[in-house]
Amino acid sequence: LRILSVASEVYPIVKTGGLADVVGALPWALMAEDVEVRTLIPGYPAVMLALEQVSEISSLPNFFGGNARLLGGSHGALDLFVLDAPHLYDRPGNPYLGPEGKDWPDNAFRFAALARAASYIGLGAVPAFVPDIVHGHDWQAGLVPAYLLYSHRPHPGTVMTVHNLAFQGRFPRHFLPPLGLPPESFSIYGLEYYGDISFLKAGLQFADKITTVSPTYAREIQSDEQGMGLGGLLRQRASDLVGILNGIDTAVWDPGSDPAIASHFGIERLEARAPNKAALQTRMGLQVSPETFLLGVVSRLTSQKGLDLLLSCLPTLVGSGIQLALLGDGEAELRDAFHAAAQRYPGQIGVVIGYDEGLAHLIQAGCDALVVPSRFEPCGLTQLCALRYGALPIVTAVGGLADTVIDETEAGVAATGFKCASVTAEALDQTLRRAAAAFYAARSNASNWTRMQLNAMLTDVSWRHRAGRYAELYRQIVAQRRPAG
Ligand code: ADP
Ligand code: GLC
Repeated sequence: LRILSVASEVYPIVKTGGLADVVGALPWALMAEDVEVRTLIPGYPAVMLALEQVSEISSLPNFFGGNARLLGGSHGALDLFVLDAPHLYDRPGNPYLGPEGKDWPDNAFRFAALARAASYIGLGAVPAFVPDIVHGHDWQAGLVPAYLLYSHRPHPGTVMTVHNLAFQGRFPRHFLPPLGLPPESFSIYGLEYYGDISFLKAGLQFADKITTVSPTYAREIQSDEQGMGLGGLLRQRASDLVGILNGIDTAVWDPGSDPAIASHFGIERLEARAPNKAALQTRMGLQVSPETFLLGVVSRLTSQKGLDLLLSCLPTLVGSGIQLALLGDGEAELRDAFHAAAQRYPGQIGVVIGYDEGLAHLIQAGCDALVVPSRFEPCGLTQLCALRYGALPIVTAVGGLADTVIDETEAGVAATGFKCASVTAEALDQTLRRAAAAFYAARSNASNWTRMQLNAMLTDVSWRHRAGRYAELYRQIVAQRRPAG
């Protein structure tokens, strides 16, 4: 089975969040299922630099306003197609934002071009790789099923995966002709969304199957409250919508061999975890103290992640002697607020603003508990890393967080973390206290906390049993589309 995966980021080349991790790990995981995946990504500068064994497949003259080329190549174990279109992608920095932190004004064309190139490959432009399925990720690939449909030619099946319904790729309707979309596509049964064009809606409307990244999020997004304007459509498509949990790359996230941490550890060497806590406390300017309860955060700083709720809890936490090590980047207001907190409580709150992969690993290895108080969370990967590294997750019970963390109240001795009953500062405060009490109780009776750590570390967070769900779905689509007889 051959799959063309289409995405705007891929780990380890370009990453702004979990999407890249998933797009980077799935091809490898699907190999074990006899599925061959090639990934199409935009030719950002970082991609052009990272591309190995490059070959030009075709030239695309005057493609969305400039000359472009479709390249084949690889990076490590990743097989890639790259849309080399300097007029669209040869820009520094973040894949979506210009230097002012605002979306590039031509994002509609930058990602329509990606989808258009994917549709060419779907229609057979690369004879050596004609996919059975084209699998698009998030709004940036939303137009793939639309372009295939309106080609009016026989084409492969399509899957659309929603990693985050909050980002929809919404653009004015007068873009329709330059995007090469026919007038009939602009309908409520097509890609029209409140008078505009929605790339994500196009994907949700026209793909054979829709997936999202956890079963709970698959249910949540069918409601009017959390459907972000697409709940009705998702309800209509319920029989084609499935939630498949993400895994993490357990080779990249391996406490037994992680080069970014101070001391390797595992379920048989849990005591070897302690030097990581000391290293983290030192690195973050915190008082070095093995007995102090140390909370960690690794997150984008946006309202989705609910870290403003954590801010409200800080004064009381600090009052009870709890420490915090936070790594994140994003909205200025949150950045400033955490900076201010670190200045106000030196030695107790350590904050690093920025993106730092090594530090993210050290936080997972060194903190006692990782806090993820999201308002909504399609899947979430940091709590999976935390489980694997024996940092107990403290989470709100939403989306993938609800599906991957087990609270004492749900499963007693099988618990792996702490769930907050509601998404409020009060509930978070209570849950943090409950976790702190469990941590400090461990000093008199080590078994409970240690048992939870072992449960967490023994949780299967790998792709092993999850990639098969995608393989199954692909095969189902292929079988359904095969003409009878
Ligand atoms: P989202 O994709 O919504 O940001 P996920 O939990 O799915 O959330 O994925 C986030 C990914 O990005 C994880 O791999 C996490 O370790 C990483 N990450 C987030 N913020 C940072 C940061 N400031 N520095 C390093 N890695 C980060
Ligand atoms: C999105 C979501 C996150 C999910 C990731 C990968 O960024 O916010 O919850 O884990 O995609 O699917």
